[in-house]
Amino acid sequence: MKCNHDTLLAAAAPLIELAVAEDIGPGDATSLSTLDAAVILEGRIRAKEAGVIAGLPVAEAVFQRVDPAITFSARVAEGQEVVAGEVVAEVRGPGPSLLAAERLALNFLQRMSGIATLTRSFVDAVATTGATILDTRKTLPAYRVLDKYAVRMGGGMNHRMSLFDMLLVKDNHIDGAGGLTLAVERARAMYPELPVEVEVRSLDELREALAIVPPLDRILLDNMTPDTMREAVALAGGRVPLEASGGVSVETVAAIAATGVDFISVGALTHSVKALDLSMKVEGNKGQETRGKKQRAEGRVKAAKQVLGDRLVILGHHYQREEVVALADYRGDSLQLARAAAGTDAEFIVFCGVHFMAEVAATLAKPGQHVLIPDPGAGCYLADTATPEGVQAAWRALDAVFGDAEVEFTPVTYVNSSAALKAFCGKHGGTVCTSGNAEKVLRWALLQRPRVFFFPDQHLGRNTALQMGIKMDEMVVWDLHRKPEQDIIQRAKVVLWPGACNVHQRFRPAHVTAARAQYPGIRVIVHPECKAETVAAADGAGSTAYIIKQIAAAPAGSQWAVGTESRLVYRLQHEYPAQTIVPLADVPPYCATMGQTTVENLAEVLDTLARGELRHEVTVDAGTARWAKIALERMLAL
Ligand code: 13P
Ligand code: SF4
Repeated sequence: MKCNHDTLLAAAAPLIELAVAEDIGPGDATSLSTLDAAVILEGRIRAKEAGVIAGLPVAEAVFQRVDPAITFSARVAEGQEVVAGEVVAEVRGPGPSLLAAERLALNFLQRMSGIATLTRSFVDAVATTGATILDTRKTLPAYRVLDKYAVRMGGGMNHRMSLFDMLLVKDNHIDGAGGLTLAVERARAMYPELPVEVEVRSLDELREALAIVPPLDRILLDNMTPDTMREAVALAGGRVPLEASGGVSVETVAAIAATGVDFISVGALTHSVKALDLSMKVEGNKGQETRGKKQRAEGRVKAAKQVLGDRLVILGHHYQREEVVALADYRGDSLQLARAAAGTDAEFIVFCGVHFMAEVAATLAKPGQHVLIPDPGAGCYLADTATPEGVQAAWRALDAVFGDAEVEFTPVTYVNSSAALKAFCGKHGGTVCTSGNAEKVLRWALLQRPRVFFFPDQHLGRNTALQMGIKMDEMVVWDLHRKPEQDIIQRAKVVLWPGACNVHQRFRPAHVTAARAQYPGIRVIVHPECKAETVAAADGAGSTAYIIKQIAAAPAGSQWAVGTESRLVYRLQHEYPAQTIVPLADVPPYCATMGQTTVENLAEVLDTLARGELRHEVTVDAGTARWAKIALERMLAL
């Protein structure tokens, strides 16, 4: 269910009234007495811990309610992940009212951001499966719309809003009515227009529910073990969507999702809220000081560039922060940056991107070249879904089925993977691909051997294979929990690792439908890390460089909904003002780890480099580098 900002603000308005009466009443005695009424203060709301922001429109409404003279400028988007210390919003206005509103605005923002943050951790935990995270009605009384909005900002989906908008026949209804089928018949007779979901406690009840005609809209599996859920999924055979429910935690949700259920509802999202730690500091002159600090950091970067001259090259990926990209010597997608890294003679390559990208540069580095990364903790969720041990184990299992996997399969790793996996491909006659050359690479791989083992991104693998005319039933997703079924795997032309990017997986076909309804004639373009059904609904798919090229070549007045990381989408908006460019999803996703590089940590690395010290150098051991380089060079030669 969609809650737009108007619905949100309408629901928040009476709560804000109550809160203002409860907290401020006739006036904030301390602020009124200590501050000059005419003093204008500036404040910054910052995250004190990493999390997902939700509720900025409500926070703004609180400040406005307390004093319309206060201005509120959000510095991040709704649903955006922030790092500790990041500025979330800036406020400015008469001192006494700014401080009177502070706590109330933060209370709303902290609670909603806490819900969004917890939801995101569940969404991320199931990102490699097809399961969708749902909320429940276990919301704070009267806060239903706010709580459920925050769930959506976290990437979850809303279950029913209230008792009147959907039929959910539960155990008590079944027992009270005298049977499951009877209860459904009575419900449907009185409310034929409402969707029906039924809760089942056993496989027998599931069989009864599956026999109901017309089919139910959804069946809820109550408190079942993963093994029973697996059986339930097999029994349902895709005829009715299944929802798992009951005591789901971040620790157990991945195993539940792996059973193949379509939805997982989690009461904890809204009943056990831990507020995200945010604070507001009045910075007065400090505001300028902070801006000054950033400018000084930019100055430090420029000064270091002057000192180091041709000895330094700064590479920046399209998903980097605006101010970082502005300082890069070269901006590109991962293929362009790999080529730039391989082509440069600079002694120091500072890679503003994520760790695997810097590893590629380090692997291709010439003797005496050094690769540095501003934040060594900036990893990639997708890359982390495949470990060398996991891939080796799958390869051994393929050996067991085919005698020798190496005769049958060319291993291909997406560049978003560790150097160890690239080395694995180098050793076993395989190669690397990026989203910019995946089709060319897959064609090459299938010329070498009859089949391909593709990791870690199942979506890029599937989308590319589909584009080449390979059929869905010729592809198998590797099951990490079970031995491969001989006949299924024997038929497979492409075996896909079950990895996915938690940013791109969030784009759904429904977003495409919504964009087309809102902007008739809009062209939808997405990154191939999106699900196949999203790519199928879009007008085109390609790497970040491809997306940029399409938009750059389009005439003024064209309209685009873009399904990729939001910093790039907003940059395109800015760079092509004559076109309408919007993010595809209603909660535009950001890559949190790409955002970990800041001007400040870039300046730190460059300052120390200018002083002759190497900080945060990325290295790849010689054995791994040798084979990874072979795999990469095979790709670069194509
Ligand atoms: P590109 O290869 O398009 O740069 O994408 C890299 C990436 O990480 C996408 O999520
Ligand atoms: Fe990795 Fe996804 Fe971020 Fe790209 S957007 S770096 S694939 S987590």
